[in-house]
Amino acid sequence: MRLSGKKALVTGSSSGIGEAIALRFAREGADVAVHYHHGGESARALVAEIEKLGRAGVAFGANVGVAAEADGLVAAAVKALGHLDILVNNAGVEFREPFLDVSEEHYDLVLDVNLKGAFFAAQAVARHMVERGAGGRIVNVSSIHEDVAFLNYTTYAASKGGLRMFTRTVCQELAPHGITVNDIAPGAIATPINQRTLGDGELLRELQAVIPAGRLGEPDEVAGLAVFLASDEAGYVTGSTYYVDGGMSHWNRGL
Ligand code: BGC
Repeated sequence: MRLSGKKALVTGSSSGIGEAIALRFAREGADVAVHYHHGGESARALVAEIEKLGRAGVAFGANVGVAAEADGLVAAAVKALGHLDILVNNAGVEFREPFLDVSEEHYDLVLDVNLKGAFFAAQAVARHMVERGAGGRIVNVSSIHEDVAFLNYTTYAASKGGLRMFTRTVCQELAPHGITVNDIAPGAIATPINQRTLGDGELLRELQAVIPAGRLGEPDEVAGLAVFLASDEAGYVTGSTYYVDGGMSHWNRGL
């Protein structure tokens, strides 16, 4: 087991990639705090699965887009599990809409959850880890769209681009404390965020056609990388982005 005895908080883990990461962490020996915003029931079901694996599991609801709530979430996880070695900032939202139609409300929602939430959860956990003096791991679930353009998703791409530079910059301040910060950049993964495409045969074929691997990824294929980045083995890995995208970010028609 690669995370034996570790204690982790995974935001947005009531479904999709976050859920897969929380489960994999438990399988690798970690106690896990599950976070949800709307999915309380699935979060509690996930806690039951974590407990079945013989690990401690707890679930907390919070809107991480509000700094005080991100802070409170970290404090609650520390209190329930004793301390935290690992934070996975996975909570994320997206809206597909033309730039000309983007409202301030949508802008705030996407930037608050995807960027501000990750920023302040990282700050809260880093304060705790520095005080504890035992190092730690912060893993941000970003997107290939922290680097690759994403038509009609300006808010999402801006939030993930921000996450990229946050990671690259904050790693310098936290490295002396033995805390690493890295981004995982998934491409198209079969999760609820891609529901619209998954439910439409033609859209699905179009999407598969721009993925060199010819298929969407599975949440568990992202979780494997999260385990590595969260483990002791990755102590010298910090400030970078790792793609899990079946080659999507390098797709080109070659015309
Ligand atoms: C988005 C998905 C999209 C994928 C590939 C992800 O970051 O959340 O909606 O399918 O990138 O474009």
